[in-house]
Amino acid sequence: MVFTFATQRVLINFCLPTVLVLIFVVSVFNAGSITAPFQAIKDGASCVSQRPEDQKDHRPSLAYGFGDLMPELFKPIKLPVTAKDFIDQRGNKFVNGGRDYWKEPMGKDILVVDIDTRNPNGENGVFNAKKMDWEKVEAAGSSLLTVAHINHFIYSQIHGYDYKFFHAKKIRNHFDTWIKPHALQRMLHNYKFVVFIDADAIIQHLEVPMEFLFNRWNISPNTSIAMPIDTQQVFEGENNISVDSKGKIVLNSGVVVLQNLPHSHEMMQAWAECTTEKRYPGCGHWKTNWSHEQRAFSEFIRYDFNPDGNNIVEIPCNDANGFPGLVGQASVVDDCKGEFVRHYTLNKGTAKTSTSDALMQSMGELLQKNFANNHRNILIEE
Ligand SMILES: *[C@@H]1O[C@H](CO)[C@@H](O)[C@H](O)[C@H]1NC(C)=O
Ligand SMILES: *[C@@H]1O[C@H](CO)[C@@H](O)[C@H](O)[C@H]1NC(C)=O
Ligand SMILES: *[C@@H]1O[C@H](CO)[C@@H](O)[C@H](O)[C@H]1NC(C)=O
Repeated sequence: MVFTFATQRVLINFCLPTVLVLIFVVSVFNAGSITAPFQAIKDGASCVSQRPEDQKDHRPSLAYGFGDLMPELFKPIKLPVTAKDFIDQRGNKFVNGGRDYWKEPMGKDILVVDIDTRNPNGENGVFNAKKMDWEKVEAAGSSLLTVAHINHFIYSQIHGYDYKFFHAKKIRNHFDTWIKPHALQRMLHNYKFVVFIDADAIIQHLEVPMEFLFNRWNISPNTSIAMPIDTQQVFEGENNISVDSKGKIVLNSGVVVLQNLPHSHEMMQAWAECTTEKRYPGCGHWKTNWSHEQRAFSEFIRYDFNPDGNNIVEIPCNDANGFPGLVGQASVVDDCKGEFVRHYTLNKGTAKTSTSDALMQSMGELLQKNFANNHRNILIEE
């Protein structure tokens, strides 16, 4: 691999903010010790000079820039992958269902991937060289990607997952979201799991690892794919745009968890080629008609590729679809709050607030723990 100037710039851009955050946090954590901040600078500096070929894992990655910084930073609040439950900031308890399929962190065997035909390289974009003005980032168009990439990337870094942005080519005569099965199939070869999250979907609890959620969602070693159940829209008493022709609610492709199994590759091939109608007469209808690849999966693929009943897993709508306040808008009748991944199919602008809130929620918790631990060093009580 050639270590280009551009790569180096990406490294520096990703590293520097982390170093600054870390110096600040380390200072608070270790108030009273003057050596810690310098150690942090030294550790941080090493990430700038680290080359891809130095890594144990030879898959090229954007993620090498953060190294161990984020896992270290989040250590005090990270949920263990084998945790029996997770309690959120509002006191809601989410259990793992007593399942322990996944007992060890999978690290770089999990890929978090963003896939889009748009490129976040415009004003305030993550791929724009000019300094970003966060206040002016609008969660619309390609700037929506910037908001999502920040959330998805930070999440991948906290848990040591790999991260990629797959900038896809449009597919002729198909709606843009048809790129998903093609791109996902391509990425799946190099990982154990690939987790795709839409540009308008935001991870809410940065400290909760995928492995915990896989257990919670009953994603077993035999599961090929998992997607959340869609929110239903009812117009004039008809829910017919939310269900397939057999009346079963469609799955929403805003969150896709894929496991690298031979069965999965066969399934992805069938999905990606669905509109050729070689295997599925009538699939061509969904090239440009709503809801495109999502409906094609629900109409055809899910009835053909679930021989054991656990090959295709339906994630509860409330966990990974919708957002608080969606119900009642656009005739949506299901109150799915997106407890783990909020999907802003409407009110896309809120994705930015959601990204800020998720990050500040975890930073707030970290700081709160450290104010408590170090109050004797911080507090002057008059
Ligand atoms: C996985 O599939 C194999 C073979 O069909 C079966 O024996 C096993 O019980 C399955 N495991 C789970 C967790 O479903
Ligand atoms: C859904 O039902 C409504 C009311 O019966 C009908 O007008 C519409 O064409 C149907 N849409 C689809 C996609 O079947
Ligand atoms: C989309 O649906 C319309 C109305 O049912 C149909 O006429 C059209 O052929 C469909 N598009 C494709 C690409 O099949």
